[in-house]
Amino acid sequence: MDLESFVRDVPNFPKEGVVFKDVTPLLKDPLAFRECILRLSEKAMKVDFNIMVAPEARGFIFAAPLAFEIGKALVPVRKPGKLPYKTKEIEYELEYGRATLQMHVDAINRGDRVLIVDDILATGGTMQAIAEMIEESGGEVVEILCLAELGFLEPRKRLSRYSVETLITY
Ligand code: PRP
Ligand code: HPA
Repeated sequence: MDLESFVRDVPNFPKEGVVFKDVTPLLKDPLAFRECILRLSEKAMKVDFNIMVAPEARGFIFAAPLAFEIGKALVPVRKPGKLPYKTKEIEYELEYGRATLQMHVDAINRGDRVLIVDDILATGGTMQAIAEMIEESGGEVVEILCLAELGFLEPRKRLSRYSVETLITY
C-alpha cells in the first residue's frame, strides 16, 4: 500500500510559503492507518527500548496504537500547562515559530532506553528538544521513528547523533 498517497499537501498552512503535510486522510482510511501502525511496529520491534515518548498532539495519534500493539510504556510530552504533576520544560524553534514542551520530572529514569515517535519530522527541532529532555533525565535515545520526514529541511543533519527511521521521505 502506498501510504504517501494518503498524505495531503496543503499550501500556505499554517503560514505563507509552508506546504503542510496533512495526515488526516490517512487517519480517515481504516486500512491505511492500520497498515501505517503495523509498518511502524515492524521498525519499532527491531529496537531494544523500554519506553516510547511522543509529543502532543499528532505524535499521540501514532504512538498510542503503536505502544499498544507492541506492549511498551508510553510517556507523553505536552504543551505547557497540560501535565498535572511536576514538569521539566524546553523551549525550541519550529519550522513556523517557537514552542515550549513539557515532560513529567519522573517520566524518564537513568538507564531508560527511549524510542521517540511522531508523525512528521520537519526541521527536527521538536525531536532535538525532546531528546535533550530525555538525556537530561539520564535516558538514552535509541531511535527516532516517524511516519514521514521532510528531507528538504534536512532534519537528519541536526539529528546526526541519533538513529532515525521513517516510512516516507519527501
Ligand atoms: C508538528 C509535528 C511535529 C513537529 C515537526 O507538530 O507533529 O511534532 O511539528 O516539526 P519540526 O521537526 O520542525 O520540529 P506541531 O508542533 O505543529 O503540533 P501539533 O502536533 O499539536 O499539531
Ligand atoms: N506538515 C505537518 N507537520 C509539520 C509540518 C508539515 O509540513 N511542518 C512541521 N510540522
